[in-house]
Amino acid sequence: MNPGSSYNAIVVDKKKTGDTELSVQKLNTGQLPNNDLLIRVHYSSLNFKDALSAKGNPGVTRKFPHTPGIDAAGVVEQSSDSRFRKGDEVIVTSYDLGQNTWGGFGQYISVPGDWVVPLPKGLTLKESMIFGTAGFTAAYGVKKIVGQNVRPDAGAVIVTGATGGVGTMAVAILSHLGYSVIAVTGKSDQHGFLKKIGVSKIMDRQEVTDISSKQMLSSRWVAGVDTVGGGMLDAVLRQTDHNGVITCCGNVLGGELDTSIYPFILRGVSLMGIDSGICLMEDRLEIWNKLATDWKIDSLDYLHREIKLEQLPAEIDKIIDGKQVGRILVNLRS
Ligand SMILES: NC(=O)c1ccc[n+]([C@@H]2O[C@H](COP(=O)([O-])OP(=O)(O)OC[C@H]3O[C@@H](n4cnc5c(N)ncnc54)[C@H](OP(=O)(O)O)[C@@H]3O)[C@@H](O)[C@H]2O)c1
Repeated sequence: MNPGSSYNAIVVDKKKTGDTELSVQKLNTGQLPNNDLLIRVHYSSLNFKDALSAKGNPGVTRKFPHTPGIDAAGVVEQSSDSRFRKGDEVIVTSYDLGQNTWGGFGQYISVPGDWVVPLPKGLTLKESMIFGTAGFTAAYGVKKIVGQNVRPDAGAVIVTGATGGVGTMAVAILSHLGYSVIAVTGKSDQHGFLKKIGVSKIMDRQEVTDISSKQMLSSRWVAGVDTVGGGMLDAVLRQTDHNGVITCCGNVLGGELDTSIYPFILRGVSLMGIDSGICLMEDRLEIWNKLATDWKIDSLDYLHREIKLEQLPAEIDKIIDGKQVGRILVNLRS
């Protein structure tokens, strides 16, 4: 490990009151743990989990001071792992990055080789982080839907939390693959954005959730990517067609799911969970390769905003309030 390189990072400190304080600080690579790879981070991105970490949520981060950032893409600076060499372009997402291991909101990370994915041909470091964990998770959900043979001509696919990071990516990938996408959003001022990334129909959140308490309702879609959970997921399940597939990844509405058994046993609906954090490396490589080739969407430029480290605190507050639209790319090159 090179003890001499100083770098900039967001540092989150937790006070005795439980409140956290964020600042950009100068750190030194000598302060990082001695893992297999030292990586110079060029880009990161903002995900909901980063905001939880920055706000001191103990379910995400227990050790402070801490540098969040569950996503990082950059260039290997030092490696003791024979699979990687100095100069290799790599992506690191998932596992413990940005949780209790200092993450991508710093210009350097030190990580085990088993967490690292070579940047696939067809993606730049910047593009990989516009996708980031949100795009990877959306693609993982789409992979499950495609894997259950739900083809584009089978019916519409619903995406909840559609203007959020995962939702935006799910909408864009599904419409790129020819699916008719229903976007559910609470942001009436973002219909233009959603249409531009390919949705066929927009529904207000209440249109989905303000329904009769009947345990099954007329079917309105055949598949779905749910990023919200709770009552939204229950409502989505009860309006899913025969042999439909709903994937769930998010808990924006909390951890409880109170629903009916009937969509499962009378319509053969499948509910498939997504954990992007610990997925098999062969699935991880396949998904990144898809994102670099057949599933690479045209709207990557349109659906992100690029910021610097100093701008992160304000963007973190916005994602906590459910007000972000699309993806926030963090440029750490200078
Ligand atoms: N399991 C995994 O591997 C995995 C990976 C990544 C993310 N996640 C989880 O997935 C969820 C979404 O992550 P993200 O990064 O996309 O977050 P995000 O950018 O904040 O998006 C969440 C979206 O949910 C919608 N929303 C907010 N409050 C709501 C409410 N009260 N009722 C209904 N909808 C509401 C909003 O979209 P609209 O305004 O358009 O409705 C918001 O933009 C989070 O819970 C995150 O922790 C899980």
